[in-house]
Amino acid sequence: MRFVTFLLGAAALLTSVAGQTSTLCNPLNATCPNDPAFGMNHTFYFNTSSTVTTSFNITAGTLNYTSDGAEFTVAKRLDSPTIQSKFNIMFGSVSVVMKAATGTGIVSSIVLESDDLDEIDWEFMGGNSTHAETNYFGKGNTTSYDRAIYYPVSSDVRANFHNYTVDWTADKLDWLIDSTVVRTLHYADANQGRTYPQTPMTVRLGIWAGGDSSLNKYTIEWAGGETDYSKGPYNMYVQSAEIKDYSSGSAYEWTDNTGSWQSIKSLPGNSTAMNAILKAQTPTLSTAQKFQALPQATKLAIYGGSGAAGALLIAALVFYYIRQRRAGALERETYNAKIEKEREEAYMDQMELKEKGYGGWNNADVAHQGEDALGGWGTTHGNNSPTVPSTPKFPNVSSNEINPASRNYGDSQNVPQSPGFHLPSAYNSGGYQRFG
Ligand SMILES: *[C@@H]1O[C@H](CO)[C@@H](O)[C@H](O)[C@H]1NC(C)=O
Ligand SMILES: *[C@@H]1O[C@H](CO)[C@@H](O)[C@H](O)[C@H]1NC(C)=O
Ligand SMILES: *[C@@H]1O[C@H](CO)[C@@H](O)[C@H](O)[C@H]1NC(C)=O
Ligand SMILES: *[C@@H]1O[C@H](CO)[C@@H](O)[C@H](O)[C@H]1NC(C)=O
Ligand SMILES: *[C@@H]1O[C@H](CO)[C@@H](O)[C@H](O)[C@H]1NC(C)=O
Ligand SMILES: *[C@@H]1O[C@H](CO)[C@@H](O)[C@H](O)[C@H]1NC(C)=O
Ligand SMILES: *[C@@H]1O[C@H](CO)[C@@H](O)[C@H](O)[C@H]1NC(C)=O
Ligand SMILES: *[C@@H]1O[C@H](CO)[C@@H](O)[C@H](O)[C@H]1NC(C)=O
Ligand SMILES: *[C@@H]1O[C@H](CO)[C@@H](O)[C@H](O)[C@H]1NC(C)=O
Repeated sequence: MRFVTFLLGAAALLTSVAGQTSTLCNPLNATCPNDPAFGMNHTFYFNTSSTVTTSFNITAGTLNYTSDGAEFTVAKRLDSPTIQSKFNIMFGSVSVVMKAATGTGIVSSIVLESDDLDEIDWEFMGGNSTHAETNYFGKGNTTSYDRAIYYPVSSDVRANFHNYTVDWTADKLDWLIDSTVVRTLHYADANQGRTYPQTPMTVRLGIWAGGDSSLNKYTIEWAGGETDYSKGPYNMYVQSAEIKDYSSGSAYEWTDNTGSWQSIKSLPGNSTAMNAILKAQTPTLSTAQKFQALPQATKLAIYGGSGAAGALLIAALVFYYIRQRRAGALERETYNAKIEKEREEAYMDQMELKEKGYGGWNNADVAHQGEDALGGWGTTHGNNSPTVPSTPKFPNVSSNEINPASRNYGDSQNVPQSPGFHLPSAYNSGGYQRFG
């Protein structure tokens, strides 16, 4: 879906489209801030809003949360709800259990995207029940048209949940459907590595209408045809995402402008993302536990408080804790409502600009889309994986750095364990690590 970067000049009306494949600062020609790291493994269950707000930015639209997971909906033109991880992984794996949306021209997607526009994609066309598209880009190079490859899935991708994985290391990239490898890209096969995805990636999930009538005919063709909004709404459901960062640390630093994985440095420390997840997992104390935690003297005062006074004090404490808890919930709701309102306003602004003729799809801007063609016009493969020519292993890759299992986790630390968050018994809280 690389074509979308060309649409930025057109005010990126379909904000998720731009959001999925754009960059704020390109380290190939600028000095950019470090990328916050993930530095952990975690499975996100998208059945509550807090899962998303703790670890992802909602960069367009709003989501509903159902027993089927997060619901991403296109109900009308320009709807394009999208979320983007607040963290980056530097090699890793991402397994998303999702059900794609129906609807001709509706594109459901899983995108890994880096600051210099390395990209790894899964895309699902709403008009196609049988196939999933895989794609990749390196350093924003859009000059090749043979990267998109479609693979059959065992049952309707829009009616059933399937597990779509990318497993990404310095020497190869695997795409898996329900744990079966369907495609492998070796480092050397991507222009001797020059266009191999190899820099810190955020994870982006979203839905948009590639079949919107304002888009050019190549985009609409790729998306499977023109979208009929009257037949919507079209919903994509994301149940869970298991995300593993094969590196550790607090942030990834670009030490030069090469965009090579060897130039990325991992900075020591716990990641903000990890701290946020651990904090969200910390159980809230019950009143009884809080009472237990009170200093002994206070407790004695409460026990000892003759009769009514003691009971009153306990009642007051209970009342206080309940109120505090309500206040917390209220604050959260108010905050969420505010964010949603702001998004709605941003959307309305864009609609207005579009109506006034500013920021709409500019034909001159989209005229070139055919050239980069979403990496489209790819081939279709049968059940067999394509034969990947065997290539010499990239000589500088040391298995210690790409195989987390063999990494030395250093000094043991006491890390709280909780369900769904398993740290190795010895965990490296930092230490300078360089990919090269
Ligand atoms: C930097 O890279 C971006 C993305 O490739 C490009 O749009 C921009 O023109 C480049 N700027 C310079 C100064 O080269
Ligand atoms: C969300 O899903 C997880 C995993 O299935 C489950 O443990 C949890 O109870 C669910 N939460 C809600 C609010 O449904
Ligand atoms: C969420 O669900 C409600 C009830 O089905 C619906 O009215 C609303 O439009 C949905 N919101 C989004 C953003 O899809
Ligand atoms: C998420 O949003 C926050 C606040 O707007 C911003 O500072 C941060 O850079 C965003 N993260 C990503 C990965 O875009
Ligand atoms: C789905 O996509 C595959 C691969 O491009 C193609 O062979 C198949 O005909 C498509 N099916 C439909 C219904 O468009
Ligand atoms: C961009 O990709 C094309 C096609 O794969 C390749 O021929 C070209 O060398 C690449 N450009 C760079 C700068 O790597
Ligand atoms: C998805 O597939 C990956 C790769 O095989 C596997 O590790 C993961 O456990 C699977 N997730 C689910 C929920 O089945
Ligand atoms: C993350 O998962 C990988 C692969 O399963 C494993 O080798 C690694 O030890 C895990 N890392 C952490 C921090 O748990
Ligand atoms: C990292 O997190 C662990 C567990 O929360 C903590 O024990 C350790 O002190 C933290 N390290 C740093 C450098 O903050």
